[in-house]
Amino acid sequence: MDVSEVVSAEVGSSAPKVSIRRLSKIFGEGPAATVALQNIDLDIGEHSFVTLVGASGCGKSTLLRIIAGLEFHTAGEVVANDKPVTGPGADRAMVFQQYSLFPWLTVTENIRFSRKLAANRGDFTSAEVEAASGRADTLLNLMGLQAAADAFPNQLSGGMQQRVAIARALMPRPPILLMDEPFGALDAQTREVMHDLIQYVYHLEKTTIVFVTHDVEEAIYLGQRVVVMAPRPGRIDSIYEVPLPAQRFQDIKLSLEFIRLKREIVERIRETSGMKTDLELLEKLCGQLKT
Ligand SMILES: Nc1ncnc2c1ncn2[C@@H]1O[C@H](COP(=O)(O)OP(=O)(O)OP(=O)(O)O)[C@@H](O)[C@H]1O
Ligand SMILES: [Mg+2]
Repeated sequence: MDVSEVVSAEVGSSAPKVSIRRLSKIFGEGPAATVALQNIDLDIGEHSFVTLVGASGCGKSTLLRIIAGLEFHTAGEVVANDKPVTGPGADRAMVFQQYSLFPWLTVTENIRFSRKLAANRGDFTSAEVEAASGRADTLLNLMGLQAAADAFPNQLSGGMQQRVAIARALMPRPPILLMDEPFGALDAQTREVMHDLIQYVYHLEKTTIVFVTHDVEEAIYLGQRVVVMAPRPGRIDSIYEVPLPAQRFQDIKLSLEFIRLKREIVERIRETSGMKTDLELLEKLCGQLKT
């Protein structure tokens, strides 16, 4: 299969958990207006893992924030879990690059925070809150955080803080998990561990994951499909199906299929971002300097 020719707006095989139609987002007005997103059409199926890549400023975070209900779109529609998105909801959890934990709460308290809020609002019975604390313990174990249960965020490494943030996001069992460069600030080794962890969570919890990254290798390793976005205006350029088994191991990154797809996607991002022209110009200038 020539993966470069796979251009489709259908992501995931079953009924879409997220359906985006003719979505546009414009920031500002008049000459200062920025078309962050133009005419986005995308279906993200139930229990699918979709990764978004593309040059800086192509609208990845804006798209994710619109799905999360943290940002409003200018035109078009977004439906998540069969309901139009009009604001944030417990069905869509978000994990950011910055660890965004509450520094005055311990690891366990951070993880339980959302349930505690709901309990205070009267949304849960005490039995439900008790069951939730069992889930918090399970998530603590799953993330390998047992020893840090009573620690405060500033006593943890970046990787550990991000595990807490993921556990906290998973706490209310959100069907959709939105992740914006969640491992961007981590070192390469910690990131690999996090990749395998998030894959495990994805298979265990059957979550639908939309994951933004700059790292093409990360996008392929984690995603079933990789959506390449292009800037000015922000849009979907192409969608690549990842022809790898559902269960991935680090060695797969050395396979020919993986490397070939990586090269294609990197090349596509270069072409759509204008970076290729910049590199050609730089080469030409270097040539002129030599003569
Ligand atoms: N609140 C805002 N006000 C005005 N313009 C904005 C705002 N947020 C984003 N933009 C603009 O919208 C465009 C898309 O931004 P966005 O942050 O979604 O890109 P991105 O693909 O996530 O970039 P990066 O890879 O650097 O994180 C950019 O041109 C950005 O300057
Ligand atoms: Mg961004």
